[in-house]
Amino acid sequence: MHEKIVILDFGSQTTQLIGRRVRELDTYCEIIPYNKFPKEDSTIKGVILSGSPFSVYDENAFQVDLNEICGKYPVLGICYGAQFMAYTNGGKVEPAGTREYGRAHLTSFCQDNVLFKGVRENTQVWMSHGDTITAVPDNFKKIASTDKVEIAAYQLEGEQVWGVQFHPEVFHSEDGTQILKNFVVDVCGCKQDWSPGSFIESTVAELKVQLGDDKVVLALSGGVDSSVAAVLLNRAIGKNLTCIFVDHGLLRKNEFKNVLDDYECLGLNVIGVDARAKFFAELAGVTEPERKRKIIGKGFIDVFDEEAHKIKDVKWLAQGTIYPDCIESLSITGTVIKSHHNVGGLPEKMNLKLCEPLRLLFKDEVRRVGRELGMPDHLISRHPFPGPGLGVRILGDITLEKVNILQEADDIFIQGLRDWHLYDKVWQAGVILLPVQSVGVMGDERTYERAVALRAVTSTDGMTADWAHLPYEFLGKISNDIINKVKGVNRVTYDISSKPPATIEWE
Ligand code: XMP
Repeated sequence: MHEKIVILDFGSQTTQLIGRRVRELDTYCEIIPYNKFPKEDSTIKGVILSGSPFSVYDENAFQVDLNEICGKYPVLGICYGAQFMAYTNGGKVEPAGTREYGRAHLTSFCQDNVLFKGVRENTQVWMSHGDTITAVPDNFKKIASTDKVEIAAYQLEGEQVWGVQFHPEVFHSEDGTQILKNFVVDVCGCKQDWSPGSFIESTVAELKVQLGDDKVVLALSGGVDSSVAAVLLNRAIGKNLTCIFVDHGLLRKNEFKNVLDDYECLGLNVIGVDARAKFFAELAGVTEPERKRKIIGKGFIDVFDEEAHKIKDVKWLAQGTIYPDCIESLSITGTVIKSHHNVGGLPEKMNLKLCEPLRLLFKDEVRRVGRELGMPDHLISRHPFPGPGLGVRILGDITLEKVNILQEADDIFIQGLRDWHLYDKVWQAGVILLPVQSVGVMGDERTYERAVALRAVTSTDGMTADWAHLPYEFLGKISNDIINKVKGVNRVTYDISSKPPATIEWE
């Protein structure tokens, strides 16, 4: 088992960010709910307490017995984490007069404190809290102030316990990474040897033990996560892994064949299932977006289940679940941020054990692992694509004719982005077929045909997104190409809505 930093989650929006920062220091870490601290774990090298939406005075504030942690491991409390430690040890936490939010500067700090090694004078830090520590207990020592806050950071005298009221994990804290590094490397002694290579080595070894000679099925979507999971499992158990790739008829142009070829080149044992007829039949005449999603989701489960049953003695279902999905499902504040679970319900229905080898990785780490596994770049750097595919990009009912039109238009747009070296600059792009016809003129003839919308967004996680500011020349060229080459379309528009309040997909 790898050495790790535990991040105890009190529900802050930046908890995941702390995790990312620690991983960027090539150090393995796990985010654990505030009340689930493991009893005995010799791999823990240090603990970070996150911020929280609560004030220490709130009735519902998350409480934890720190005696289990302080004194046993080095501890760094961030924001609420710092306030909670100060408060429960007899310090004073009070509502801040004016909300201490935004930029501040460390006007003074103990230069010789290990936490501040290499930190520049007057460095900018990011504050975000409604309460502030106004007095620390006797055995706590103030070690930094900002222009707005007297006690910006403290250390327990003679102990490896620190608290900072600012957020070192946030980009706007200029020396934040240095502060985290000081804690993780200098204080906790982490070796910074967590890498894609070490992940692959240890995960393959663990999978071999976990799965033995058992048979495993995995649903491939063509996306990065399921593909990387498959290649990793293939390395561990070879032919005992069977991958199933379902064509619901709502994939991009030529996607089924291209992706299947890629998978075969990677040596995967993959079954491609042509289920287009089933999906088109079930979707005929359905216009309501949620209904379409349900039909596609259920159809997918049925097809997968049927195929999996053809394989004898399957014991496991593998999935490309990644860390943000797991953290969301653990979300202690109970807010469901994302509800796109295409294969939710499968493990129960099939009575299989679940194997999720990527469940501790962030998206960019999954990509790094994929590259290290020798997967081709076009597979690794693919844009996200919704499980229900073009089904949620054809507004109104779905027909084969509409799918064909959309596939052609989409192909021109995506190929254009590649040719103009714009593909990697956007998070995701696609075309939406609108349930609208408009008048046009082609040659000498009046036309009355369909309109499409181009959608391209920039984003870091898909949760929020901005419309991509693509060059006008490019948009003009794509519009021309679509109208000239795709029969049935005579108008192209560009979607300039950000998320929120719009979403990335139209349905
Ligand atoms: P929205 O439209 O909610 O999309 O802004 C956010 C991200 O999720 C993708 N998406 C889906 N992915 N199944 C998926 O696997 C779905 O049903 C689904 N709906 C949306 C969307 O493409 C974007 O990347």
